[in-house]
Amino acid sequence: MRFKRTRLSLAIVCLITVCSFAKAQVVTIPVETIHNALVLQTDARKNLKMVYFGAKLSNAAEYAAIKKLYKPNDDSGILDDAYTPSGSANLAEPALTVTHADGNKSLDLLYVNHTITKADDNVSLLTITLKDPAYPFEVKLYYKTFYKEDVTEQWSVITNNEKGIVTLNKYASANLNFKKEGEGFWLKHYHGNWASEMKPEESKLTHGIKTIDSKLGTRANLYEPSTFMISMGKPATEDEGKVFLGSLEWSGNFRVDFEYDPADNLRLIAGINNAASEYRLKPGEEFTTPALVYTYSDHGRGDASRQLHRWARQYKIVDGNGSRLTLLNNWESTYFDFNEAKLAQLIKDTKKLGADMFLLDDGWFGNNHPRNGDNAGLGDWQENKLKLPNGISSLVKEAQANGVKFGIWIEPEMVNPASDLYKAHPDWVIKEANRPEKYFRNQLVLDLTNPKVQDFVFSVVDNLFTRNPDLAYIKWDCNAVIYNAHSQYLKKDQSHLYVDYVKGLYKVLDRVRARYPKVPLMLCSGGGGRVDYGALKYFTEYWPSDNTDPLERIFIQWEYSYFFPAIASSNHVTDWGKQPIKFRVDVAMMGKMGFDIVVGKLNDKDLGFCQQALKNYDALKDVIWHGDQYRLQNPWDNDAAALMYVNDSKSKAVVFNYLVNNRYGTGTKSPIRFKGLDPQKKYTVKEINLYPGSGSVLHDNQVYTGDFLMAVGINPEISSYHTSVVLQLDAVN
Ligand code: GLA
Repeated sequence: MRFKRTRLSLAIVCLITVCSFAKAQVVTIPVETIHNALVLQTDARKNLKMVYFGAKLSNAAEYAAIKKLYKPNDDSGILDDAYTPSGSANLAEPALTVTHADGNKSLDLLYVNHTITKADDNVSLLTITLKDPAYPFEVKLYYKTFYKEDVTEQWSVITNNEKGIVTLNKYASANLNFKKEGEGFWLKHYHGNWASEMKPEESKLTHGIKTIDSKLGTRANLYEPSTFMISMGKPATEDEGKVFLGSLEWSGNFRVDFEYDPADNLRLIAGINNAASEYRLKPGEEFTTPALVYTYSDHGRGDASRQLHRWARQYKIVDGNGSRLTLLNNWESTYFDFNEAKLAQLIKDTKKLGADMFLLDDGWFGNNHPRNGDNAGLGDWQENKLKLPNGISSLVKEAQANGVKFGIWIEPEMVNPASDLYKAHPDWVIKEANRPEKYFRNQLVLDLTNPKVQDFVFSVVDNLFTRNPDLAYIKWDCNAVIYNAHSQYLKKDQSHLYVDYVKGLYKVLDRVRARYPKVPLMLCSGGGGRVDYGALKYFTEYWPSDNTDPLERIFIQWEYSYFFPAIASSNHVTDWGKQPIKFRVDVAMMGKMGFDIVVGKLNDKDLGFCQQALKNYDALKDVIWHGDQYRLQNPWDNDAAALMYVNDSKSKAVVFNYLVNNRYGTGTKSPIRFKGLDPQKKYTVKEINLYPGSGSVLHDNQVYTGDFLMAVGINPEISSYHTSVVLQLDAVN
């Protein structure tokens, strides 16, 4: 009976499948957001094509007519596939390459059906099922749209319904096709290294494939992040042009291919890097790829980035619409050299400064292998008895007694060979048994594919909170890349290591968030080695770079700001650079502000300035964290950089101006035009963060219309005498 029912349902499924394959009816699927549309359409044999991407049409019925207007010289007929399979008719770069259970490497994917589910008025999920007519192999494409934000998350789920193991040789998250546009396509992407993150390069794509990728395993963005920008038709500017911003929500190896094809279309294929990462699926198993998040605007980069910011605050980063803690960190003031007395003083200094929290950085743990430098102790997460005889709990109490909160640094995925952990669990370490160990910052990476290691990493966090329920914050670091990528746990499945590592990390972070849903966590990776939305789903903020020289930070923060909102950017005032304290504070203020200086060494004026600046920040942080960000003048082409933040009701704004060129006579010779204000409203413009004893460049209490401020602007009179100027705008009735 049971057998019969299975046979019957199989027959029905086959019938539906056969029918849908046989039917030649064209299906058009518009994926719309408030301004934009991505349109998918089946052809006569049910190949799913991406036929349109751009501004939404006013009459959705007209999408159906688009495809036939294009006459590509494409015999294969699938250069515009919505998810390109390989080994059949397709000869272009594939989204998916598989080896079937019988060893065959051909794949064809035909449309079966689609569903749309609405989570609410703003969020919809389109699911499209594709099947191979020759093999029981299925792919579901997902398009999750955030209507008001003009943002889409796209991913795929690949299912092996065959009788044996299927190997995924390449398994992209998203495959997008952009039709020939104007003069072609310009790609802006980033490279960098420690202390030099987010160096942009923009160039016109030539025919062939340009790839950005990472194979580092952990700290995957050290040399290159997966964030990128494509201008369509001509290079977009801040306020003009068609621009696409994308970023893979994945904290490991990624690969994004940009194929400018023979028909002058651009094919984008983004996903986990398949290098050394063939993934085997057992019968019945499925593989979910991480999402590519993207947005599009035909009003320039600024508009596109604000869309992404709104989405990130509302839907992705933890507590994106909430509040953040200002802090004093001890990394640069003490490095590893501290004791209880020193920390007690720093806790007092936190209060004196007016910051919300003291953050204890690296160096507090390890006994047999004390963490007195970066060559020992990682893995031994017990307080160092010499430095902290009374433990973390006494520091938390000390902080409370001083009216501030207490946070702590950890790097739980890592181990120094000089540690008890390394000796107790050599099998937990990623390394090649037959090769010399190769270290990055004297350390190795723990094997997060192993559930026991996941338990351990979770316990590092859990123990801290269990023993110190009032612990207010964790800075989670990840300083090493993966060398000698071998897992003792995975045995014969070594090619799963890079993928399962990240999945293991996310499992741990899921557990952390299930137990501690709101506690602020900073995402750090030797600076900005892990800034991606896959990780930011679990974090409240990220550390952009160890380079805190404010001049450098203007450029670094500027570039991050295209993709990540200001509330998530941890900007600390430190002693890097030669700039005066005012400049350093003004730069840190354009995000989530913190300090990492020796407060005791500040002279009275500097201290007074910092205290007042924190009060000013308190009054403006809502605008900076939750408002819209506008880039007014970029630091790459100008003597001064300027950017501003405006709240939703356009009643309050803040404008930051910084000198970025120290040659003779540089500065702002003309007014800087503001953006995002209400032209009808009148605003007072007041300079804040004035250094004690210095006067404002502006005539106080002058009132201007938003119209004037946006059409003419204000000259902040940036020069070598006024290297940074912060202006506060308040609407008056
Ligand atoms: C990394 C981080 C720094 C600091 C050190 C501590 O480099 O980026 O901010 O925490 O580790 O070792």
